[in-house]
Amino acid sequence: MTRDYLSINRDVWDADAGNWVDFAKGHWSLESPKWGTWGNPDEGLNLLPADMKGMDAVELGCGTGYVSYWMTRRGARVTGIDISAAQLATARQLATDHKAAITFIEGNAEATGLPDASFDFAVSEYGASIWCRPDRWLPEAWRLLRPGGRLVFLGNHPLSLICSPFDGSPADRTLHRPYRDMWGADWTEVEFEPTGVCFNLTMSAWMDLFTDIGFHVTKYQELYAPEWALGTRAAIPADWAKDYPVEHVWHLAKPEWRL
Ligand SMILES: C[S@@+](CC[C@H](N)C(=O)[O-])C[C@H]1O[C@@H](n2cnc3c(N)ncnc32)[C@H](O)[C@@H]1O
Repeated sequence: MTRDYLSINRDVWDADAGNWVDFAKGHWSLESPKWGTWGNPDEGLNLLPADMKGMDAVELGCGTGYVSYWMTRRGARVTGIDISAAQLATARQLATDHKAAITFIEGNAEATGLPDASFDFAVSEYGASIWCRPDRWLPEAWRLLRPGGRLVFLGNHPLSLICSPFDGSPADRTLHRPYRDMWGADWTEVEFEPTGVCFNLTMSAWMDLFTDIGFHVTKYQELYAPEWALGTRAAIPADWAKDYPVEHVWHLAKPEWRL
């Protein structure tokens, strides 16, 4: 993975942005959040604080901005950052349509240029959480958070990567890839549905990284496809995702003080 993943991923998302406009419109119009590829309802998951009045929140890799909007509706002052100008164009248009005051910034979530300790809450749903190097974006999230601040991020479960064939065809019940030393995958030249460069870690490597940075884990959730799910989404068949965790969510806290 020595290629320039940042420009690869930016180009992938600039080219793909038009395909996400309808999805984005639907998500901006939801009454209650739905998360991830299979639209798991927020009830019981609670990825966002119920009341965000007075909070400064940042979405890292905000894409079309619907998570930012959900936080605005809960009372937060929200900044969304994304590397793709085309994705941000959708986000800005929808913010205008919904009369939402959200600051959208074009930039790299691994190095935002935003001030230290300027946010109470940070979130990423399939943004920095999978498209950025964990050893770069997590320290950046830490830097942006105030002491006592929280970070919640959702991405692919490591098991879904292990079960994904190297040619990009849908996941199955075979262990195609080693778990040991997991670092992610380059999907740019696969036979089926090529895309960008994604990152993921083993569970112990995630935990080591959080500990090294100083984050405390407050909750860890594994998500499955709901019972009604059919077909294949993002190269994962629904039947697979009903039996195995397809996504995971980390809830982290930046403690008020550190030894
Ligand atoms: C699947 S979207 C997720 C965002 C949002 N949940 C959505 O679905 O619109 C992934 C986003 O991550 C962004 N992204 C990829 N690499 C990034 C980086 N280094 N910094 C900021 N954003 C990045 C892409 O441009 C894309 O808009």
